Formats: sequence, C-alpha cells, structure tokens
Amino acid sequence: MIQLISFEGGDGSGKTTQLKLLDKYLASRGKSCLSTREPGGTTLGEMIRKMLLEAGKVEIASPTELFLYLADRAQHVHEVIRPALASGRLVLCDRFTDSTLAYQGYGRGVDLDMLRRLNQVASHGITPDVTFLLDCPVEVGLSRAKARKPPSLLASQPPSQDRFEREKADCHERWRRGFLELARAEPKRIYVLDASRAIQEVHEDIRRIVDKKLV
Ligand code: TYD
Repeated sequence: MIQLISFEGGDGSGKTTQLKLLDKYLASRGKSCLSTREPGGTTLGEMIRKMLLEAGKVEIASPTELFLYLADRAQHVHEVIRPALASGRLVLCDRFTDSTLAYQGYGRGVDLDMLRRLNQVASHGITPDVTFLLDCPVEVGLSRAKARKPPSLLASQPPSQDRFEREKADCHERWRRGFLELARAEPKRIYVLDASRAIQEVHEDIRRIVDKKLV
C-alpha cells in the first residue's frame, strides 16, 4: 500500500511535470490524490518559499536556511499531508525530506544524521513510500531551467533566476551526487529515472512502477 510519493531531482529535471502527469493518470483511474509541494504547499509555506527563493541580496545563513525549510515542512505536514493521509488520499509531493539531505546535507555540509533527526521532527515521522529521483546531467537540467524562465522585459536586465539557480555548477554536481547516494542507500524506496529522456518515456516508467504498487 502506498500513501505518499515524492518527486526529487535537480533544477530542470522535470519533476513537477512528471508529478502533474501522474496526478492526471491517477485521476483517470479514479484514484483521488492530492498534489502538493515544498517549499510551499500552505499559506505560511508560500511565504517561507518567497523568503528562501527571492531573498535578493540578503545573505541567508546556512542554519537559517535549514530551519526555514524545516519550518515549511512542519507546517505542511501538519496542515496538509497528515490530514490527507488520514482521509485515505494518496499524496504526491514535489520535493520532501530527501531534498533537505541533498541540498543542506551534501550541498552545505550539514551533518546528515542530524538532518535525518530534524527531518523526523518536521515530518512527524512520515517518510515517503516511493520516491522518484529524476536524474539528469547538471548542464541538461540547467539549460532546461533557463529556457522555461520568461525572457527579461529589458535586454539590459539579467534573466530572472532564483537563488539556487544562481549557484555555481559544482554545487549542482554535489546535490546530484547526494541524491544518487541517497538512492543507492535506499534502492527499494528511491527509483532513479533517467530524466534526460523524453517526458512521455519517463512518465511511462513512473506509471509502470505505480501500477505495480497500487495493485
Ligand atoms: P523548487 O521550486 O522545487 O525547485 P525547482 O526549480 O527545481 O523546481 O525548490 C526550490 C529550491 O529549494 C530548490 O532549488 C531546492 C531547494 N530545497 C532545499 O534546499 N531544501 C529543501 O528541503 C527543499 C524542500 C528544497
């Protein structure tokens, strides 16, 4: 029985597109599911998301960043995820606890065991039953992420990028390696999918896996 499916991956890996396709597919099979995301997913979470991604020139210290993501998660689990699971709905979540391990752990060097404990607190002990890790080379993801941003109105303005997209390529490599290491440690939960393929091909893999789990 699966109740919570998370989608993870780097920028431009297509996880949001895949989540929406799965949502649509499950709805067509009469399965009621709730799609949500982190950071965000609640009114307070959307405020936290704005703080995190649009901080502009404000430098966010690493522990501050961590606590903001955890605060977002705690509220999200309390207000959205737990009630949905309690009512028997399948929850699809765009990023969850593994993002904290990859970005704050492998990326910023925060101790992984401590992060696991903090994740437990923030998620009220809830872990995903299945996680789809959409993996692709960093350059592929970054060029996709760039292409989907609206062009600047003024040619003199730099293209709009969030705080994470501005990070250097070696950070993206660390996050990617982190996700892959997490997947190696938990192969029964985390499915690594080659996200450089066509959207439909990736979706079919996801469908096959979910179909097997839902019977
Ligand atoms: P998101 O909007 O999902 O990014 P994308 O543009 O890839 O769809 O998430 C915003 C950023 O937040 C993303 O770069 C990863 C980061 N993040 C963390 O650093 N830690 C976390 O715990 C979470 C949930 C996200």
